[in-house]
Amino acid sequence: MEQLQNILGQALAQFQSTADEAELEQIKARFLGKEGSLTVLLKGLGKLSAEERPAAGARINQTKQTIEAALQARRDELRQDRLTRQLAAESLDVTLPGRGLASGGLHPVTQTLARIENLFHSLGFAIASGPEIEHDFYNFTALNIPENHPARAMHDTFYLDPEHVLRTHTSPVQIRYMESHQPPLKIISPGKVYRVDSDATHSPMFHQVEGLWVDEQVSFANLKGVVQDFLQRFFERDDLRVRFRPSFFPFTEPSAEMDMSWGDGWLEIGGCGMVHPNVLRHVNIDSEKYLGFAFGLGVERLAMLRYGVNDLRLFYESDLRFLKQFN
Ligand code: DAH
Repeated sequence: MEQLQNILGQALAQFQSTADEAELEQIKARFLGKEGSLTVLLKGLGKLSAEERPAAGARINQTKQTIEAALQARRDELRQDRLTRQLAAESLDVTLPGRGLASGGLHPVTQTLARIENLFHSLGFAIASGPEIEHDFYNFTALNIPENHPARAMHDTFYLDPEHVLRTHTSPVQIRYMESHQPPLKIISPGKVYRVDSDATHSPMFHQVEGLWVDEQVSFANLKGVVQDFLQRFFERDDLRVRFRPSFFPFTEPSAEMDMSWGDGWLEIGGCGMVHPNVLRHVNIDSEKYLGFAFGLGVERLAMLRYGVNDLRLFYESDLRFLKQFN
């Protein structure tokens, strides 16, 4: 009995004395393992007399259960401590200020394109597009600019090979659209164009928006109305006026340069004209029955004027200090 009390006392004390889970299992072995003191006692039961044996056995077993229960309790305690420490170490301070998300914004030229598309859309124009790598035929020939025509020199063209160019204007979309649609048709075609040119007002890549309206009865007066209405709404100025100056483009006849009133003077904002019968002929549209007007506007030009930007290159230098102003 005394031995049992001793063993129990030692076991309970040693369980408490360690804070190490692995060590706890070693301590367990001292009492309950194969060579453990309690196990040895159990084995010694055989030496007792038959009368003494049951009572002694019961006591030992009782002690064993008490020790096992204490062991399990200590195990749970140590495991809980470990979890608590782990949670404390891995905890997040949710009250810390966030890092913040920088919000992006649409590029000013993209915003300008969207504005142009919306305004023309509200005037009944569909939006058409074409490839930026263009066949010589669409970029020039079908637009009444045959090979060796001096008008080709007006465009500082990037040639990919003798037959393919980076389109120098959005006018080829006129041809592509008329090839697959019959009049009446009314489209604008915004997009990127390319020319070998670079300074404060020219970029090797820039944007144009082409306009085309083909029907049985369309006139220069309609052209002026459409362009003026568009510009008045684009710049939010009801008093804005448009004027034409005679000019030359191979794909229009007559052709004109468009100016808009700006401050005390006039600013050139694009070219236009009545679609040349040769162009209609190239796409098998009856030039006796149909006529149309076309125009081309520079998108960066419109963006620069609307936002008061004086150097075109700012749009393409990716300087966030500049771009952030348009968010
Ligand atoms: N494609 C011409 C250019 O880039 C601009 C232009 C002029 C387009 C007159 C037209 C037009 O549709 O009628 O220089």
